[in-house]
Amino acid sequence: MYKYISNTGGGKAVDFETAILDGFAGDGGLYVPEVIPKISLEQLSSWKHLSYTNLAFEILSLFIDRNILSAIELRHIITDAYAEFEKEEIIPIHKLQSRKETYIMELFYGPTLSFKDVGLAFLVNLVNFFLNRKNERLSLVVATTGDTGPAAAYYAAGKSNLDAWVLYPKGLITEEQERQMTTLPHANIHPVGVSNCPDGGDDLDLVIAKLYANQPFKDKLKLSSVNSINWGRIMMQTVHYFYGYFRVVDTIGEPINMSVPSGGFGNLCAGGLARKMGLPIKHLIAANNKNACLHRIFSKGIMSKVDIHNTLSSAIDILIPYNFLRYMYFAGIETAKIKSIVEDFKTKGEIQFDPKTFKLISEGFKSNSASDTDTLNIIKVLFHTENYLLDPHGAVALVAADANQATLENLKLICLTTAHPAKFPEVIKQSLGRNDLPFQARHHSIEKAKTKCEKVYLCDHLHLEEGLIDIMEKDWDLNH
Ligand SMILES: Cc1ncc(COP(=O)(O)O)c(C=O)c1O
Repeated sequence: MYKYISNTGGGKAVDFETAILDGFAGDGGLYVPEVIPKISLEQLSSWKHLSYTNLAFEILSLFIDRNILSAIELRHIITDAYAEFEKEEIIPIHKLQSRKETYIMELFYGPTLSFKDVGLAFLVNLVNFFLNRKNERLSLVVATTGDTGPAAAYYAAGKSNLDAWVLYPKGLITEEQERQMTTLPHANIHPVGVSNCPDGGDDLDLVIAKLYANQPFKDKLKLSSVNSINWGRIMMQTVHYFYGYFRVVDTIGEPINMSVPSGGFGNLCAGGLARKMGLPIKHLIAANNKNACLHRIFSKGIMSKVDIHNTLSSAIDILIPYNFLRYMYFAGIETAKIKSIVEDFKTKGEIQFDPKTFKLISEGFKSNSASDTDTLNIIKVLFHTENYLLDPHGAVALVAADANQATLENLKLICLTTAHPAKFPEVIKQSLGRNDLPFQARHHSIEKAKTKCEKVYLCDHLHLEEGLIDIMEKDWDLNH
């Protein structure tokens, strides 16, 4: 049996289904597979020409026992999850003309136009499958900096075993992102706009952690999470690293670099895991904006909670890269050590990693902190040189690669772009210096949402915990 344990060593080992439905591990830590599956170069070669969904089937089969999901069930869930993606290849790879061996991995062709669709399309379908089989119900509480919320709401909408409470920092996400959540008419989707969040999305995570710690409430409403604390998100996100690698290399075994716009480290944790499984990625670049939570770790060995900056790449305005703590397990740090790091961070708000730990966790990573000026500039330059439009997060990834250019050994580079530019029209206008939007920054679903009525709860951050408990319980009692 594939066993899942907590990265902080407590609680008991569980099977795949329990890890997915629980969200958090028993001791409040994050689930990790006890053993990392290893993939040989021969096996990689045999996968080179697989479609995205067939590749996903092979990779996921390394983490899931067949008696929990049969091959037919797994295939069905995967096929169904990606049926609505706009492009047949699911994740197109675009080669830039004006740069040497530089590729853009476009992860935003799902229905809500961000890379969150890639993980959540599968995960929400999987959760729903398990719940149907057990005839049970769950309440998902989701925190978002603008993209997880729309994707989770979209995939949960209308599913009779799920309620989704989607919390977003009001005023800190774009109107386009907000409307993707608030214009869904389904009775099981409950967007909550939270005003006055001093630390943006991180504040919402803290309130969710408190709801989880409230055992009677958690048990009554059967709380769970599809944020990237859920192992299913990380597992699914490993697939696009393999898929992208196969699209750009001439020979299997050739090392390449990948640059990733990062906040909570969910996407990069999957990239780091893919490399530990055997994918030849030489350098993974943690691309931050001014908030620099990962850049501080990789450049100075410091994880610290500082004041948040509101930037143009708002979806990565994140201070606590909680999936970095999961990655530590993959990097070979003992669970007892991770536990002490978590506890120290909680009490002191800052950790300086010792040299041995730092060596293990930073191996193979580069990083950068991009300013808004750099972000605006690279969008403009690429648009004018080759008519290619990046969203602000993809821009942060390209800036990070440029900043590290001297040490990247001239290997092929894939920049992961995580959102469609249509979600950030004001940034696009600002960078291109015009009042209208080019066609690349328009999308029919965004236009359509502008014509719909909105449905949303509003709450001040100060009262969020009590406000949520009250409304969630009332809703549950009314409907069950
Ligand atoms: C567009 C976009 N890019 C990047 C990220 C960062 O992803 P992660 O938290 O997995 O590092 C997010 C979400 O947080 C996002 O919405």
